[in-house]
Amino acid sequence: MKYLVTGGAGFIGSNFIRHVLGKYKDASVINLDKLTYAGNKDNLKDVENDSRYTFIEGDICSSELVEPVAKGCDVIVNFAAESHVDRSISGPGSFIMTDVFGTYVLLEAARKNDCGFVQVSTDEVYGSISEGSFFETSVLSPSSPYSASKAGGELIAKSYSETYGMPVLITRSSNNFGPFQHPEKLIPLFITNAIENKALPLYGDGLQVRDWIYVIDNCEAILAVMEKGRTGEIYNIGAGNEFTNLEVTGMILSELKKPKSLIKLVKDRPGHDKRYSVDTSKVRELGWKPSHDFRRALKETVAWYRNNRAWWEKIKSGEFLEYYRSHYYEKHGLKEASQ
Ligand code: NAD
Ligand code: TYD
Repeated sequence: MKYLVTGGAGFIGSNFIRHVLGKYKDASVINLDKLTYAGNKDNLKDVENDSRYTFIEGDICSSELVEPVAKGCDVIVNFAAESHVDRSISGPGSFIMTDVFGTYVLLEAARKNDCGFVQVSTDEVYGSISEGSFFETSVLSPSSPYSASKAGGELIAKSYSETYGMPVLITRSSNNFGPFQHPEKLIPLFITNAIENKALPLYGDGLQVRDWIYVIDNCEAILAVMEKGRTGEIYNIGAGNEFTNLEVTGMILSELKKPKSLIKLVKDRPGHDKRYSVDTSKVRELGWKPSHDFRRALKETVAWYRNNRAWWEKIKSGEFLEYYRSHYYEKHGLKEASQ
């Protein structure tokens, strides 16, 4: 099986590539990634000399680049996206470009080269739900430019299945966590800040709820959908680990034996969704279920960030530093130095 993985130098994509190469001896993977601020070749250092793995630096929005690369591939798995809600609020343009137009370019490449297509989407396309859980048939009501772009991308993907009869599958996963996640996202930001005795900027009252899934469980679910899912269908993916941000923050601090005084309640994110929750019966009918216990996986994730300090220190001291300073410190009036 020959996979074209886009965005494979990011968090989930890099975990997916390592997982696929480890699981299937006959797999070969092309990783096409633009290496934006979120893409990091260090995430796949351990497989870069594997003869089954090829890295190509490039933009999914370029049909001249994408179409020849897709030739001969069995499936395109599209992880490439601008993925951070906060950045979509300060600058939506690149989200619409990559997450919508880029998806269209990849779908055209799949159509011309007879490739299968998996669109990695998000539970955020549904918007917030105060009680119960969203089904795959629920109305889409995205709140941020990020989730709206993801909704746009997956609707185009679905239309290619309906119109051209292409083998398209769509996954809508809940919040992932695990190794190699960029330290702008809640869990790695708070782990690394706490290690450095820096403030943890918790938005609003910290009572927003997310359903956390360990990244490898999501990778396995994507494979289950790809291998056993029904063409043209959408599959929610989640592990049922619903916690408030305050609860998750408490668990991180307690694992690191750091004081609660590091928590700083700051101005809320505009349009902040209160709760995400998806019903996952459909993907479970394929025989998939999460195999990682949340608390144990969080503990291991904390240990990974402790043991891989050079990985995140490089990111936090590079281009990210300016964003980090203006976003977290100047914006919220926090002191940058250790508290
Ligand atoms: P990430 O930001 O860590 O990685 C995105 C990758 O895409 C980076 O390597 C980046 O360089 C690459 N990229 C961005 N624009 C590109 C372009 N124009 N051309 C080629 N490559 C480009 O994101 P992630 O957290 O790994 O998420 C991967 C996918 O999963 C995204 O589509 C995201 O919407 C979706 N998703 C993520 C989560 C989550 O919790 N992280 C949950 C549900 C769905
Ligand atoms: P995030 O990791 O950005 O994922 P998403 O917005 O896609 O769910 O944020 C997870 C939750 O944590 C979300 O409710 C926003 C909140 N959050 C904070 O409170 N402080 C922060 O510094 C960040 C990055 C997120």
